[in-house]
Amino acid sequence: MTDSPVAIAPGVHWIGALDPQLRIFDVILKTANGTTYNAYCVRGETGVAIIDTVKAEFADTFFEHLEQVARYDEITAIVLNHLEPDHTGALPELMRRAPNARLYISVKAQTMLKGLLKSEDLEYTPVNTGDTVDLGGRTLTFLNTPFLHWPDTQCTYLNEEAMLFSGDVFGCHFCDSRLFNDRVGDFRFSFEYYYQHIMRPFREHVRAGLDLIEPLELSLIAPAHGPILRDAPRSYVQRYRQLAAPLLHNEAADRAKTLLIFYISSYGNTARMALAVRDGAEEVEGVRASLYDLQGGEVAPFVDLIEEADCIVFGSPTINGDAVKPIWDLLSSLAVVNIKDKLGAAFGSYGWTGEAVAMVEDRLRGLKLRVPVRGVKAKLIPNEAELAQCWMLGHQLAEHLTGRNARRVIDMSELLNV
Ligand code: FEO
Repeated sequence: MTDSPVAIAPGVHWIGALDPQLRIFDVILKTANGTTYNAYCVRGETGVAIIDTVKAEFADTFFEHLEQVARYDEITAIVLNHLEPDHTGALPELMRRAPNARLYISVKAQTMLKGLLKSEDLEYTPVNTGDTVDLGGRTLTFLNTPFLHWPDTQCTYLNEEAMLFSGDVFGCHFCDSRLFNDRVGDFRFSFEYYYQHIMRPFREHVRAGLDLIEPLELSLIAPAHGPILRDAPRSYVQRYRQLAAPLLHNEAADRAKTLLIFYISSYGNTARMALAVRDGAEEVEGVRASLYDLQGGEVAPFVDLIEEADCIVFGSPTINGDAVKPIWDLLSSLAVVNIKDKLGAAFGSYGWTGEAVAMVEDRLRGLKLRVPVRGVKAKLIPNEAELAQCWMLGHQLAEHLTGRNARRVIDMSELLNV
C-alpha cells in the first residue's frame, strides 16, 4: 500500500488514498478490487493547486501525502471537479488549513457546495469551460462536463503538461498500489462496469463531454478513481466514444417512433392482448411497433432496445396479486439507462383480481415515464371488447408518440354521469 505521494510529472503528485478492502461502493456497485480516491497536487511558480480530496475516513492519509509535497500556506487554489462525498470528505479541513486558497467549482456545483458545507457565506469562484487559473508557468483550464455523472461535474486540464484531471470520467473502482495503468493488474472489466453503471444513463452528456475532450492533446488522464491512465490515454477516450454511441443501428430511427411491447403469457391470453396492442399501434403511420415474449429473451439485449425506444408497454398476467417476475426483472434493470420521459403503459389478463396492470403502471411512473393512456386488464380470456381496448391502447400510444393525439373536449354531462 502506497503510503507516500506519487510523482506523475515534475511538480505534479498523486496525493490520494487507497481503499483496497471496499467491496460495495455507494450501496449498489460491486468492486472486487476496492477503489482509490485520487487527489492531485499541481505546483506552479507562483501557486499550488489541490485538485479534489478524498472520502472523509481517508482524510488523514490525504493530508499526510499533501504535507510531503506542499505547505498549506502555498496552496492558492482548491479545485473540485465533483462534489460527491468521496471527493469532498477532506474539503472543510483543507479549507481551514489552507487559508490562502481560492475554491474553484463549476457553476452548477454552487448549491451543492452550500449544502455540503452547511453555509451560505462561502468564498468561491464558479467556473465554466475555458476559464483558467494561473499557477505561474502552469495553467489550469476548466471544461464544463455536466452530468458526468452529476450536474456539477467538470474536468480540469493542465495545459503545459497536457494532463486531464477528469473527475469520475474515465475512472473505475479498482485499487492497485502500482497506480499507473501500465503497471497495475488488468482492470478493463472494471472500467467497462463503471461506465455501464455510472455513465451510461447520461450518454448524451458523455458525447457532449467528449466533444470538449477529444480535441485536447493528452499526455495522461488522471481520474478520481482507479488507475492513472498514462499509457495510451486516448484509447480510453475512444472507448467512451464507442460506448456512448447507439448500440444498434436502428433502420427505422429516422422515419419512425419506436414502440416496444414486452409480454409474458401463461395461457396465451396476455399474448393475444399484446398482438392487439401492436396492431393498434402500427395502424399509425410513423410508428414501428415490436413485440417480444419475455419468456424467450435475456434482459440485457432488451435493456439495449429500451434505451433507444420511445415507448415501452408491458403485458403481464396477475399471479398471486402481483405482476410476474420477468416483468419486474426487466423493470429493475432499467437503472442503467435513461428512460425518463419515454411513454409507458401496461396490460394483462388475470384470474381473480388483476393488480398487475396498476402495479406496473405505478412503477413506470416511479421511473419518470409518462403513462398517458390507462392500461387494459381482461379477466381470463379477453373478449372482443377487451381486445378492442387493447387495440385502442396501442393506437392511442402511437398517436401520442407522433403528436396526433387530439385534445379531448370533455362534455360537462359526462362528468355529471360519473
Ligand atoms: Fe466518485 Fe461521483 O463520485
